[in-house]
Amino acid sequence: MSEKQAIYIRSQVQSFKPYTPGLSIEEIKNKYGLKKVIKMASNENPLGTSPVVQEVVSRNASMVFRYPRANNPSLGRAIAAHLGLEPGNIVCGNGSDELIDLLIRLIAVPGQSNVVAFRPCFSIYQLQARLNGVDFRQTGLNHDFSFAWNELGDLVNPQTRLVFLTNPDNPSGYAAPAGEIRDFASALPEGSYLVVDEAYIDFARPVEKYSALSFWREVPNVIVLRTFSKMYGLAGLRLGYAVLPGMLADYMRRIRLPFSVNILADKAGQAALEDVAFTEKALEIILEGRMFLSSELQKLGCGIYPSQANFIMFAPPGNAREIFEALLSRGIIIRPLDSYGFNELLRVSIGTPEENQIFIRAMQEIVA
Ligand SMILES: Cc1ncc(COP(=O)(O)O)c(C=O)c1O
Repeated sequence: MSEKQAIYIRSQVQSFKPYTPGLSIEEIKNKYGLKKVIKMASNENPLGTSPVVQEVVSRNASMVFRYPRANNPSLGRAIAAHLGLEPGNIVCGNGSDELIDLLIRLIAVPGQSNVVAFRPCFSIYQLQARLNGVDFRQTGLNHDFSFAWNELGDLVNPQTRLVFLTNPDNPSGYAAPAGEIRDFASALPEGSYLVVDEAYIDFARPVEKYSALSFWREVPNVIVLRTFSKMYGLAGLRLGYAVLPGMLADYMRRIRLPFSVNILADKAGQAALEDVAFTEKALEIILEGRMFLSSELQKLGCGIYPSQANFIMFAPPGNAREIFEALLSRGIIIRPLDSYGFNELLRVSIGTPEENQIFIRAMQEIVA
């Protein structure tokens, strides 16, 4: 686009850089001329999509000429039943990404309000705040990646409408106990909401020790976000949900684009909740893989950050960028963390037992 045309782009948008996703398998196959590439970069489910869900998606393929029912009532009821909550407190979205954007637009006033989070944090919080003309304030984490509650609280002022927290956190895997989250939320001024993004909560052990849903009914200013992209293996279908006070849920449904959760995502989400055998298996593989990778990486001299998520952040004994590139050339994609501001760290998603072995063998060769 010419500079002349760019003047018609909103000033907030002109400095935007595209979201940095994990590299794709196709890109790496083409670049290195490889037949087999494994991806341990985007925290997806190593078992893929449940066969039961695949069958439901195929069965409903003929229905895609229809619009979905507005606000996905059956899916909302299924999620509410799964959590032991009321459907009125659930809003589904096109991934939790959509819900993050909707929350900012629902609650924060452009040019007046601010949104607060740690640095680093999931980049969509900042992108959507900026896109919506809302000031975005950040403070660092503690040195060990635990949450610096006092510093976070110091950023909050009467204009703060939302505080975003990821628990377990990405990219560190650190999880704060629910009691700490509850204390922080209870101390926020009236009109400020704490959004706890629980994209990885299914992998925390035990979940109740960490999840804000364990106290959600008792603290009125807490919003919880969850996704079907990780443990339920539906990242490509785009499905997430928010648990929030009924009044907010009601307004959120009014501003959400009516059909943002499509028919296949709606049906797949319901089937995924029912397929307990699949999620139990995925969980078993991920928890075992997490232990295996932690201990093997440690043996190789890596500094490990204890993780409650389906990935591990580690400091390799050598240049992180070079190790990342060496893995790529062997057909293994993991995640460098320079876009999070950590040039010396890497993040690997837990894979299948076979993928974990391949990754560790490659690390052994590279580090040696
Ligand atoms: C912390 C966090 N929140 C939200 C998301 C996005 O979830 P969804 O796929 O539901 O949009 C991710 C995805 O990687 C994430 O890491």
